[in-house]
Amino acid sequence: MITTREFITVAAWHLFTDDNLRTAYVAGDEATRVAILHEILRLEPVVANLARWTTADVEVPDEAGPVRIPAGARVDIAIGHANVDPATVGEQPAEVCPARSLPDGVAGSVLSFGDGPHRCPGAYIAIQETEIFLTKLFALPGVRMEREPVVRFRRQIESYELSGLILRVD
Ligand code: HEM
Repeated sequence: MITTREFITVAAWHLFTDDNLRTAYVAGDEATRVAILHEILRLEPVVANLARWTTADVEVPDEAGPVRIPAGARVDIAIGHANVDPATVGEQPAEVCPARSLPDGVAGSVLSFGDGPHRCPGAYIAIQETEIFLTKLFALPGVRMEREPVVRFRRQIESYELSGLILRVD
């Protein structure tokens, strides 16, 4: 899956460039590693935009008062923005904080796997695949990043595409 490939690369990039986070990942148990991966995915949603059509009038709260969205309207959901809403994720929303406490009903990666009936059915596989791969990767003695990836914008899913990450193992 393209999404998982991009996520594995972005998660590796975070971990190679953040010594404290990598130490926590390598030393942590599976639950800790999964929490770190969800937190990275929250900040780096591979699918950054979702489209929905309302089937009924919807009222959403706003600082200036409630906003009414009529039935049949197309709504673009900016996942990257929603995932750093301090009202949901708390203080320092743009920082990686695997111990962050989230309200009931909010997933670890917030909206990065979508929500509702079309929520990603591969979410568990994607996280587990990434966790297994990165755990084995970081267990290699002397593994290091030789070249950072190049970031391009993928318009179809309004998100990033990473290429050219080069690792070296002594
Ligand atoms: C990090 C990796 C992944 C990310 C970020 C991701 C993200 C998403 C998102 C945001 C949606 C919702 C789309 C929408 O609501 O319109 C979705 C749907 C879906 N994903 Fe994933 N996905 C990932 C990996 C996977 C994997 C590994 C599989 C399969 C093994 C998978 C299969 C699907 C399928 C079949 C849907 C459509 C569900 C439906 O429309 O009912 N995804 N994914």
